[in-house]
Order: sequence, then C-alpha cells, then structure tokens
Amino acid sequence: MKKHKLLLSLALIVILVVAAMLLLAQPAEAPTASTNTPKPAPTAAKPATSFNKSEFSRTDPASIWVIVNKQHQLVPKDYVPADLVVPTIPLRVPGNESMQVRQATATALEAMFAAAKEQGLNLMLSSGYRSYTYQVNLYNGYVASQGQATADTQSARPGYSEHQTGLGADIEPASKTCELEQCFSATPEGTWLAANAYKFGFIIRYTINDQAITGYEYEPWHVRYVGTDLSTELHNTHVDTLEQFFDVTGGKDY
Ligand code: DAL
Ligand code: ZN
Repeated sequence: MKKHKLLLSLALIVILVVAAMLLLAQPAEAPTASTNTPKPAPTAAKPATSFNKSEFSRTDPASIWVIVNKQHQLVPKDYVPADLVVPTIPLRVPGNESMQVRQATATALEAMFAAAKEQGLNLMLSSGYRSYTYQVNLYNGYVASQGQATADTQSARPGYSEHQTGLGADIEPASKTCELEQCFSATPEGTWLAANAYKFGFIIRYTINDQAITGYEYEPWHVRYVGTDLSTELHNTHVDTLEQFFDVTGGKDY
C-alpha cells in the first residue's frame, strides 16, 4: 500500500513539473490568426512628394533648366558656358568647336554612349556646343538654301539655340545612317535613344507632334540635358516638352 502511494505521489509530481514547464514555454503573447485586438493604426501614407519646379533657374543661361526657344533668347545673347569640355565619345568632327559640351552634359553623354554600346549600338556626337557666331553662319546657310520660313522650322536663330548652352547635343549612329534625318528615329540607335535618354538626364527636345509648341520640326537626334530629376519626371508624367511642363511660351514665331 505504501509503495502504491509513493508511486502515485511521484506520478503527480511528474505531471505538475511537466505542466509547469509547458506553461512557462508559452510565449507571453502568442500570435493568433483571429484576434479581436484592433490592429495598430497604419502610419499615415506619405504624401507624394511634389516636384519642385522652381529648384533651378529657367532664365540663367548656366542653369540646367534654362528655357531657350523662339520666345526665350539667351541672356546675354552671346553667352559662353564656363565649363566646356570635349567628351570622351566618338566625335563627328574631332577638333571642331562644336565637339565640346558642358561638363555635366559630357559626363551624361559618356554614360549614355557606354550603355548603348553594351547593347551593340555605336553612337556618335554630331554637334554639341555652338557659339553665337557659329550659329550665325549655320542659320544664314539654312536661310540661303531654303529661305527664312523653312530655315526657322529647322535652325534656331543666333542667341536662341540650345546648342549655345552646351546642354544640347545632336546624336547620330557612328555609321552615319540617317544622319540628322527624321528616319534616325526608326534606326536601332534612334529607337534606343528615344527609350533610354531620360535615364541619363536627357530629353528628346523637339518631339514629333509638338512643332506648334517647340517651334521646330521633329528632331529625333537632338537631346537636351536637364538632369535626371527632370528627365525622369517628364518621362513618368508623359509630358513631351519643357514649354508644357513649365507652362512657358515657345511656338512658331520670334
Ligand atoms: N536645330 C535646333 C533647333 C537648333 O538649331 O538649335
Ligand atoms: Zn540640335
């Protein structure tokens, strides 16, 4: 009888110890699938950061956002950028003044050309910086051969060209296929440029449906450096032109 009691006591102790261990092993707040505890309030959704359209000047000729079009002449009209360099990329006319661009443009062009090359596409700089005097000669040549009305749809008058800012660049295939012709847009190089320029801070400045806004015929070869913040914003919001984005005049007439 005594032995039986002892065994019973031992069994009871074992049961108590096991029960105590199981209780202690429970996490304090075991997560459960269904609970009536209200979920913590979600943190307030961050308001979409609105793009600051005033971050850079649109009148300072040295600003990456400077507006240059038929309604906005460069001031001073014979402005020369202070940081012109020759980019390390294939050049159409090595040694020519127009093979220079501003430093920021050069860095972006080098990155863009390298990315194109990775896709087997060889780009070449056709024309970058053009001085006021260079543009005088270029524009006069267009007027002489085509008359002023047509010239004004294709060439900026001196003091009105983005090329004078060192932020504009004409690009062509190294093969010169469709050199400065609208058929460039259908070449592999032109297609790639249209799809990828924004990633490097460029926009195609004279778009196909916007002649009344920009004042110029479609130029799939002419890119304008504006920095990646603005080029990405324009891309994401599907806005073609600087005139529309900044609500400024451009258009056909001087
Ligand atoms: N072809 C562009 C409009 C320029 O001359 O600047
Ligand atoms: Zn151009």
